[in-house]
Amino acid sequence: MLTKEQAIALLKPVKDPFINKTLAETGGIREVKINEDKGHVSIKIAIAEMNTAEQMQLQQELVAKLKRAGAETVGLRFEQLPDDRIKQFHKKDEKPTLLNGKLGTQFLAIASGKGGVGKSTVTVNVAVALARLGKKVGIIDADIYGFSVPDMMGITDRPTLKGNRIIPVEAHGVQLMSMGFFVEDNEPVIWRGPRLGKMLRSFFDEVEWGKLDYLLLDLPPGTGDMALAVHNTIPASKEIIVTTPHPTAAFVASRAGKMAINTQHEIVGVIENMAYFESKVTKEKEYVFGQGGGQKLAEELQAPLIGQIPLGQPSNHPSARGSIYTNDDPIGQIYHEIAQYVIDKE
Ligand SMILES: Nc1ncnc2c1ncn2[C@@H]1O[C@H](COP(=O)(O)OP(=O)(O)OP(=O)(O)O)[C@@H](O)[C@H]1O
Ligand SMILES: [Mg+2]
Repeated sequence: MLTKEQAIALLKPVKDPFINKTLAETGGIREVKINEDKGHVSIKIAIAEMNTAEQMQLQQELVAKLKRAGAETVGLRFEQLPDDRIKQFHKKDEKPTLLNGKLGTQFLAIASGKGGVGKSTVTVNVAVALARLGKKVGIIDADIYGFSVPDMMGITDRPTLKGNRIIPVEAHGVQLMSMGFFVEDNEPVIWRGPRLGKMLRSFFDEVEWGKLDYLLLDLPPGTGDMALAVHNTIPASKEIIVTTPHPTAAFVASRAGKMAINTQHEIVGVIENMAYFESKVTKEKEYVFGQGGGQKLAEELQAPLIGQIPLGQPSNHPSARGSIYTNDDPIGQIYHEIAQYVIDKE
């Protein structure tokens, strides 16, 4: 006749059919009693799901095992493994992906109320500034109607395939995926709701990003389908809201900000772009597009104003391709400070 210890040793490596863990790991062995006189072993086992075909199979397996080891009769009862215990294992087993947050990537969506305020410019320059600070950075150009990021980064290459995985294009130390890569001859894309969501999802699931610290999303302006798809697809994104200094622009931008708040996306801060023009000669600032919009928006969204970027084109330095400001450019320096703020804020 087998001993209690022997019976337990036999049960320990048996797997719970639903969470693919051994009974030793789940704590599923609840009771083992041996009646030596009668050759009877009585056990109680907790499993993740009761009254199933798998339970029947497990029952036969356990009884056979104990009988082979010397039990004449086996009494077997099952009970439900507690929910919190099950959850614990499901969590651990979940494959780390970008979207379940287990890769530790911080999402940062760049949003604005209306077009042409410099959202894409801000996206690429914040991304490059983060990369210059040693972070691993990716951009998803999710602006299906006006994808411009490849151009701004001076990218003419297309993503390549490795097996069935898409390898993003890299430039300025930043990896990029753009809707524009999948469009022939700059044809406008007309996708709505569900297809947008699907396309966006494939940018997360099918792209080989590697281990990213930050993934920036350049959203189309406004609060339309794509913005909604992003809000619904990415549970824990932070947002930067871009506006111009005109109070009306700030008013429009506040709608984008409120959408972020409604979907529990934390607003990291507001960036006021085209804030002023500074004369190279007199160093005087002229507020060409008005003044105060950024501050007003920041107050309304209860978020800090994290940068005021003046008008100015990237210099024609050979290393400054497209719309990327160099590190020693005064505007590049402002982006550096914004990137540092984003890092410190975490
Ligand atoms: N601070 C700046 N100084 C000068 N020009 C700028 C500045 N910021 C952006 N621009 C220019 O303004 C134009 C619009 O910028 P950008 O494309 O980044 O805006 P957007 O909000 O992404 O626009 P869209 O809504 O079309 O996507 C571009 O030509 C860009 O080079
Ligand atoms: Mg844009």
